[in-house]
Amino acid sequence: MRIDVFTLVPHAFAWLTEQRPIAGILGGELELRLYNYRDSTPLRAGQVDDEPYGGGAGMVLRVDVVAAALEAAYGATPPRVLALSPQGTPLTQPLVEELAQEQHIALLSSRFEGFDERIVEHLSTDAVSIGPYVLSNGDLPAMVLLDAVARRLPGALAEGSGELESFGEELGGGLEYPHYTRPAEFRGWEVPDVLLSGNHARVDAWRREQSRARTGS
Ligand SMILES: C[S@@+](CC[C@H](N)C(=O)[O-])C[C@H]1O[C@@H](n2cnc3c(N)ncnc32)[C@H](O)[C@@H]1O
Repeated sequence: MRIDVFTLVPHAFAWLTEQRPIAGILGGELELRLYNYRDSTPLRAGQVDDEPYGGGAGMVLRVDVVAAALEAAYGATPPRVLALSPQGTPLTQPLVEELAQEQHIALLSSRFEGFDERIVEHLSTDAVSIGPYVLSNGDLPAMVLLDAVARRLPGALAEGSGELESFGEELGGGLEYPHYTRPAEFRGWEVPDVLLSGNHARVDAWRREQSRARTGS
């Protein structure tokens, strides 16, 4: 899969690319390309945003700047383009699974007041929010989406560790059961007996019951 990110701070993604799972699949299952709007802006002095029509505080990312960046990268045939916006469709595990099936997607990050609305209407196929709160720019949201999608790609995770997870199909979209490790007792806090029983059927039944209880289903 290829994921392209359009941003003003490509270097911010360096940390993410050094971490698993992305580090492990870069150059294999995942191709990541970072584009700086300033490299293709048609405006002088690297300008990318401008004052809002109608007045008010803040700056708005210009539509001609984003159009130029997309044209420079794709010509007339862009892939699925997702604008990161707090006003977008919430990013959920089903949407992550859907995106992980794509061959190629592009993410648009903005800052300050956000996008000129024509970018969302005409240059993007989707707008995606990582939650009902406002961050300073779209780079953390892009990294959240990138990580969530990358870990669904083949080879990203150890065999089996991505199957039984919160929000996954295996648990009916519910929450995962609790985990424990050594020591079996700490400050009087004990690991549930069933997990020490060695009885896999009982462990499995207990885990599914815990998952249902946590999910409230
Ligand atoms: C300060 S925000 C703009 C908020 C916008 N003025 C509003 O009130 O809806 C700047 C940029 O950060 C990104 N961003 C902030 N919060 C986000 C969220 N919850 N999900 C996705 N992107 C977000 C978007 O790219 C957004 O355009």
